[in-house]
Amino acid sequence: MKKHLYIKTFGCQMNVYDSNRIADALKQLGYHQTDCKEEADILLLNTCHIREKAADKLFSEVGRLNEIKKKRATRGLDTLIIVAGCVVQAQGKEIFKKNHAIDLAVGPQSYHKLPQMIAEYLRAHNRLIEADFPAVSKFDFLPQTTHSEVSTFLAIQEGCDNFCSYCVVPYTRGCEYSRSLSEIMEEARALVQNGAKEIMLLGQNVNCWHGLDYEQKNEMDLGDLIYEVSKIKGLERIRYTTSYPSKITDNLINAHREIDKLMPYIHLPIQAGSDTVLKAMNRQYTVAGYLEIIQKFRTARPDIAISSDFIVGFPGETDADFEQTLAIAQHVQYAQSYSFKYSPRPGTPASLMKNQIAESVKKERLARLQKLLLEQQKAFNKRFVGQTIFVLFTTKGAKSGQWMGWTPYMQNTHVEAPNSLIGQILPVKITSATASSLSGTLIPDILNA
Ligand code: 5AD
Ligand code: SF4
Repeated sequence: MKKHLYIKTFGCQMNVYDSNRIADALKQLGYHQTDCKEEADILLLNTCHIREKAADKLFSEVGRLNEIKKKRATRGLDTLIIVAGCVVQAQGKEIFKKNHAIDLAVGPQSYHKLPQMIAEYLRAHNRLIEADFPAVSKFDFLPQTTHSEVSTFLAIQEGCDNFCSYCVVPYTRGCEYSRSLSEIMEEARALVQNGAKEIMLLGQNVNCWHGLDYEQKNEMDLGDLIYEVSKIKGLERIRYTTSYPSKITDNLINAHREIDKLMPYIHLPIQAGSDTVLKAMNRQYTVAGYLEIIQKFRTARPDIAISSDFIVGFPGETDADFEQTLAIAQHVQYAQSYSFKYSPRPGTPASLMKNQIAESVKKERLARLQKLLLEQQKAFNKRFVGQTIFVLFTTKGAKSGQWMGWTPYMQNTHVEAPNSLIGQILPVKITSATASSLSGTLIPDILNA
């Protein structure tokens, strides 16, 4: 009988990538991915620890999955509940004590061991955890990807040595590691062969990627890597995320000038607009330095869309500091942004700082910032009404006959068409825009009208 695997992913794009690779690894054991929990022999949650809320979600979710497991048991069916990802790394064995329904737990650097762990569990019913940082990379053990999606992720770098004082990533994902050029190129080619038209190169500090060229002689940086990836026939679009401001090189900025396949979009989190707060966060740049980099991107590629992450209510943030965050957002005019209330994370230096900010203040600051950022996003999108823009179609829309895709500037766009547009890049005349999406008409429709 066919075996099934259900995966629910929380958190960042790296987790989405990891979930795809877990599916690749379990496919070799005969597990086929399904969206239906009730038919799944394995129920897997890939977790996130970045903010308190993200981690809290796990326990209610495990409870729900356990209900399904019990119902399946009445039909004589065995079900394995597996928890993967950053919460496992952070909590270690404690995770089993907090929730008895979890059968196996695996950290983000160890999921290549899942096939072995599943076999062991099925043999002896031992609850197992793997949350080491193994000396060898998981990538050496994973099978070649069979994942197929029009727009897909490829992890090129993982981990972080920056130790921002609020952040769990150095503890959950370990120290910085760059995959080799040949490994990345092999995976990129496989993804394109499986139908990818767009690849998003991923890393917690993606622009810290470095490696050697094929001759093992010269050092390469992210700009050089993008150039190599752009040579792959059939690949139409390249993106990368997330970048760390002070590590942006002129070579990467130049890549935006010179490589057509590289999309005009940069996610460059500033986090806060006050130098005092940036220093307390242990961010290695000043506001002036950040603005200089933005200016360089805009000179190289005047139409580039810029996005950022923000944290409000970091310990010690004064009203004046926060006003500076608003001012910087006003100055840059972001196309998209993600903003969060500061969330103290266990084990991080900022969680021990004495001058924590009251929840009510954080809430109020977040509301003010989000209002501004939403207005900016709407203004950015509205500029495109009346323009014709190329959209890469990736999925079906919510309504029948509706297709969704992405502009070069990462705007979600929908159009209506009788037949599937998935996988095509087509010119779309934009007819309306909201803060979160664009609507338009396919150009041939206009010509036929
Ligand atoms: N509290 C709130 N936001 C956080 N981020 C990371 N750690 C925290 C935290 N402790 C945000 C940052 C980061 C994004 C992925 O999540 O803005 O860029
Ligand atoms: Fe969450 Fe960070 Fe782990 Fe991604 S790397 S899942 S953002 S804790």
